[in-house]
Amino acid sequence: MIIAKLLQTFSVLVVFPHDHPDIASNKCLTQSYFGTYGTQSVFIPPESCVNSFAPTANVPNVYLHPGAQLVWLEQAALEQRLLTDHPFSLNSLRGYLGLPIDAGENTYGSISGKQQPLGPARDTILHHTSTSALLALSHTRVRDLSLILPPTWRIYVLPSMPILPVPEPAIARVRDILANLKFNPEVAKIVSNISVPQIQNDIRFLTGEDGKSGIESRHSFSSGASVAAEWLKTRFEATGAKCELRPFLSGFAPNVVCRYPSTEDTTETVLVSGHYDSRGSFGSTRAPGANDDGSGTTGLLSIARTIKRLGVTFRSNVELVAFAGEEQGLYGSRYYAMDLRNEEKNLTLMVQADMIAYHQPGEPPQLGLPAYIGTPEVTQLVANLSAIYSPELVVGFTPACCSDHQSFHYQGFPATQVFERAGPIADPMYHNSGDLSDREGYDFEQLKSIAKVQFATLLHVAGFDLP
Ligand SMILES: *[C@@H]1O[C@H](CO)[C@@H](O)[C@H](O)[C@H]1NC(C)=O
Ligand SMILES: *[C@@H]1O[C@H](CO)[C@@H](O)[C@H](O)[C@H]1NC(C)=O
Ligand SMILES: *[C@@H]1O[C@H](CO)[C@@H](O)[C@H](O)[C@H]1NC(C)=O
Ligand SMILES: [Zn+2]
Repeated sequence: MIIAKLLQTFSVLVVFPHDHPDIASNKCLTQSYFGTYGTQSVFIPPESCVNSFAPTANVPNVYLHPGAQLVWLEQAALEQRLLTDHPFSLNSLRGYLGLPIDAGENTYGSISGKQQPLGPARDTILHHTSTSALLALSHTRVRDLSLILPPTWRIYVLPSMPILPVPEPAIARVRDILANLKFNPEVAKIVSNISVPQIQNDIRFLTGEDGKSGIESRHSFSSGASVAAEWLKTRFEATGAKCELRPFLSGFAPNVVCRYPSTEDTTETVLVSGHYDSRGSFGSTRAPGANDDGSGTTGLLSIARTIKRLGVTFRSNVELVAFAGEEQGLYGSRYYAMDLRNEEKNLTLMVQADMIAYHQPGEPPQLGLPAYIGTPEVTQLVANLSAIYSPELVVGFTPACCSDHQSFHYQGFPATQVFERAGPIADPMYHNSGDLSDREGYDFEQLKSIAKVQFATLLHVAGFDLP
């Protein structure tokens, strides 16, 4: 469906279900793809393309102010019973943004029938469904959305340029790795050496549950996030990595980027990651984030600690990255993936771990792989490695969408995510101040099993040696 004509850029805003049959064959769309959010894909083709996919009747004109930022908001893919607190609705969205509640769609913001802007830039709802909305907002507004919206509404900041497909040679390389995959007993030995007591200790520092770290929150704008960043850098460096605290936007805590050198002369690089920033309950400053994403972050640290303990060296370059700004719209990874694209980094693939510790009491340990977002070939590789090295995990797909792998996939790098559930989010403490590690359903063994899969992917793809 066409949402609006964008007068400033002489283009149109188009939203289609991600699996709409007309997309793949239409160059106007494939060359103007701005990402998939939830189950919907956004395109901004030139206006001259309109006739190639739809009639133009009743399409409002929108003057997209220079500097306006497009943002997709969406009710997170949660189990139905967890949706009671702050369900998504258009009126509540208007309320949070301070827009007139009863306004018709075309009477606020800068939607207009005329070829002229209506005046100063204003926040505008361009499109909405019962669970999502596409908005044009000012940059400062976007940054602060995580402070004013319910934590179960996910925020995705759209890129400023069309998204590049992952190039065929990069996908062929992943296919090649998959085709040659076989069980390696050394990998099995290394990944099973991950220490659960160590993870238990680490998570208690990051959440503040140990009473010593003083961390109350790791929200990207909090002092706790800076404490966590420094601590992570020190811990990763103690394992032989070289780390930098890499700022990306003022006000945000930095990305923690750690590198192990290659033992061979190669540009090839493999990246595994999590995000260390967190969110808490509406109106509360406490954001311990034990599962989201203390689990992925301590999983990453457990990989580093095992690298050190066993003296693993890598044939390719290896990066372990803990991102910040994920909860505000994948900001930290977006800037880092952009940097790697500009450097023409030879990134074979990346795997993000986000929420890997929780499963419902009574359910078996699981691994959820992204149903919509990411590079299917990488997802398949990870699924196969899980069957080999963590056969205790039940593997399936999740509609829960979007973490830092999306930023890499959208820069043309092969990427996927590992997640805790073959289905929607079931963690009752999702984006809640009660997201602690000491609670029912928080399963350190599942955390380890999924970290093993991420680690096995790293070992198989990068190549390694033991002393
Ligand atoms: C990991 O390996 C070290 C060194 O061989 C050993 O002391 C330790 O018990 C192992 N830990 C686990 C959890 O396998
Ligand atoms: C990336 O690394 C692979 C594996 O070493 C190599 O075959 C390929 O030529 C490299 N690509 C670039 C662009 O350097
Ligand atoms: C990967 O897993 C699929 C499904 O389980 C299986 O059919 C395929 O043979 C596996 N591929 C490799 C290379 O192990
Ligand atoms: Zn997360």
